[in-house]
Order: sequence, then structure tokens, then C-alpha cells
Amino acid sequence: ATPVIIDCDPGHDDVFALWLAAGTPAIDLLGVTTVGGNGRLEHTTNNARVALTVAGVTGVPIAAGADRPLRRELTPATWIHGANALGGPELPTPTVPLDERSAIELISDILENAAEPVTLIPTGPLTNIAMLLQQRADLRGKIKEIIWMGGSTGRGNVGAYPEFNAWVDPEAADLVFGSGLPVTMVGLNISHQALITKEVLESIGAIGNETSAFGVELLRFFCSTYEAVEGMPEGPLHDPITVAIAIDRAVATVQRSHVDVETKGEFTAGATAVDLHDMLGKEPNADIAITLDVPKFWQLIREAVAALK
Ligand code: BDR
Ligand code: CA
Repeated sequence: ATPVIIDCDPGHDDVFALWLAAGTPAIDLLGVTTVGGNGRLEHTTNNARVALTVAGVTGVPIAAGADRPLRRELTPATWIHGANALGGPELPTPTVPLDERSAIELISDILENAAEPVTLIPTGPLTNIAMLLQQRADLRGKIKEIIWMGGSTGRGNVGAYPEFNAWVDPEAADLVFGSGLPVTMVGLNISHQALITKEVLESIGAIGNETSAFGVELLRFFCSTYEAVEGMPEGPLHDPITVAIAIDRAVATVQRSHVDVETKGEFTAGATAVDLHDMLGKEPNADIAITLDVPKFWQLIREAVAALK
């Protein structure tokens, strides 16, 4: 199985990323770390523990990371995810413990002890990953690749161009794209293909376990805010596409390109400038996910949820 660490800010779609990893035998989920993003750190950390508790996942350490971006204030995405970042269902008190280590300590310990290089899957702002690369450059060789949900080749979702995860901490994203490590960018251009249609909702509900029931409540809330904010009643389930790619790269086509992260623009701060047409002649620094095999993606989600509690 592919060893992975998920660094997340749950967040409705982050929860499905966690479930997809925990419920798929091809993935070995070694640890979960949290970051301030969709909600403040206390919420995203609680929500990660809720996600694993609901799904009956035990034995995966969860550690809290950065409570704010490297150099900016945090603006939580309450307009999509609600005041606690996981609006909709009543949240149970989590029974899975919080690790005493910091996110960076936990990731470092896992990488140090790993028998093979580990895939890092960040589904929130890249603050923790940037700090890890700064503080533990000695562990680079233990990172197989980074598959990140964030950025966009076109439209944004917090402005004309910037996507939320990139916009929250553009300096961290800039550092990760400049790191020289293998990076796959799963941006809005592909995540808006993973639409939560009525059929998708029904098929997840039909699984009929506790995880699917909780999941349907999450998806209903998420679609209601997407409808209110973006006029999209079929919201896009961004984050689990990263895990789906770790499971089977054939789920998405990719294009190698150069990405620059806008850290200064007056109207575009946080935008990812993806040079798909190689206008600049710069060395490519990322695989850009382009087209999603939509039926296969939802099938992976359903299989994982069905394998959980
Ligand atoms: C990203 O931002 C968050 O709202 C989602 O969890 C996803 O990671 C989409 O822009
Ligand atoms: Ca997220």
C-alpha cells in the first residue's frame, strides 16, 4: 500500500479525503495533521478527529499544526463550511485522541521511521508543509511526492483568480512550488468536475452505514452553501481527488507545467499562474491535474465509505 500523510483543514471535502484514504486498502494512512484554513485550528483539529471517529478509524495519529499562515492573518471560509468548518450534522464528541506532538514533529517522526518515501497530501493551506521543508530539509529524501488540492488554471473562488488554499497562504504555496520536490496540483479546474449531483448523493446515501449517513448530511450542507454563494447546487468535492490520484494516477490526466504563485498582486494575490502553454520557457515544477475520470472517482469514494463503519 502507498504510505501517505494527509495535512488538512476539515472542512466537508477534507473529511471525504480522510475517508477515501482510510477506507481504501491501496493506501496506508500513516498520520493526519491539521492546519488553520476552512476554520480556526481548534475547529479543523476537532473536525479531523470527528471524521475518524465517525468512520471508526483508530490507530492513526492526529496532530495539530499551524494556527495561521506564515505571514498573514487567517480568514476562515465560514461562507462555505459554516462557523465550525463542518456545518450540517451534529458533531459527536471525538473518541480518537489528539497526539501530543506538533504536526511538524509528527510528520518528521513518520518520515524518519518510514521504510519507503511517503506521499504528502495537503488539502488545505500549505503552511505546515512549507514549515516542514524549511525546518527539516534533511527529510526531503523521505518525501516521495506532494499531491495538493489548491490553485487553479483559470477561475478562482475567493476572487477572480485566487483559489482559497493558495490565497490563505500564498507564501507557503510559493515555497512548496519552488522546493524542487515532485508536486501535483489539483486545482479548481479539475475539482469543479467532481460535482455532487443528485445521483451521487443518492448513491452515497444508499450505502447505508453510519459514515454514509453522516456524509450525506455533510454534502447537503456543502451543496446548500455552494448554491447560496456560487449558484451551484451541485457543489464540487475538491479535496479527495488528491487521494484518488494517490490510489490510481489514471483517475486524472496531468500536464507538466511551470507554476508561479502570485504573492503581491493588487487584484490577484494568491492566484496560481500556470503556464500551460509554455509562454515563459521556464522549467516545469508541477504536474497539473486536468481531466477527471468522474465515474471512477465516485466509485472510489463509494467503495471507501462502504468499507468504513
Ligand atoms: C479548497 O478550499 C476549501 O474550502 C476546501 O476544503 C478545499 O480544500 C477549495 O478551494
Ligand atoms: Ca480543504
